[in-house]
Amino acid sequence: MAPFTLAVLVSGRGSNLQAIIDSIEKKDLPAEIGLVVSNVKDAYALERAQKQGIESIFMDPKSYPDRNSYEQALVERIQAKSVNLICLAGFMRVLGKHFIETFSGRIINIHPSLLPAFPGLNVQKRALEHGARFSGCTVHYVNEEVDGGPIILQTVVPIYDNDDEASLSERILEQEHIAYPEAIRLIIEGRLTLSGRRVLHGK
Ligand code: GRF
Repeated sequence: MAPFTLAVLVSGRGSNLQAIIDSIEKKDLPAEIGLVVSNVKDAYALERAQKQGIESIFMDPKSYPDRNSYEQALVERIQAKSVNLICLAGFMRVLGKHFIETFSGRIINIHPSLLPAFPGLNVQKRALEHGARFSGCTVHYVNEEVDGGPIILQTVVPIYDNDDEASLSERILEQEHIAYPEAIRLIIEGRLTLSGRRVLHGK
């Protein structure tokens, strides 16, 4: 059987990429990573991929005339690898219509809040400022709304009175590292069905 191939798009530290790598290594995830792409040159995620011998590239948005040509180049790199699923893992760029339509239903993202609460940036800070008593992480399909696609998995964490942004981020991140590989596994096993904007989990 052909391997289930992932492309992982990153911009920074890459701890979620590492969680995916580790799950594959432990044989918890029947997949391979065909390609890691970063839009940031010195992203630590690139080093993590290289250490693992995974093909990894920095694609500089500044060396393309506009957003469409950057995304077209990205589409071509990914298509060349016969990728089954694109995982955004801290990828700090909003993807446009062409990219999303090309890989429709095959792009997922992880976000450090319980969506639809707190989409966008600085979400742990905003959850604290808002006085939320719970936060968590969400793995969702990517559509054209920022952080707005159908929700695959969520994990809840409590927010304590003495939390600050760092402590809350850490508590959420720990759960992200479990939830992301788990969501990918559900997809590989063909367990998910889309019904409107709901994702139903089969047995
Ligand atoms: C994570 O908190 C993820 O939810 C968000 O960006 C962060 C990326 O962290 N989208 P890392 O690069 O995977 O360590």
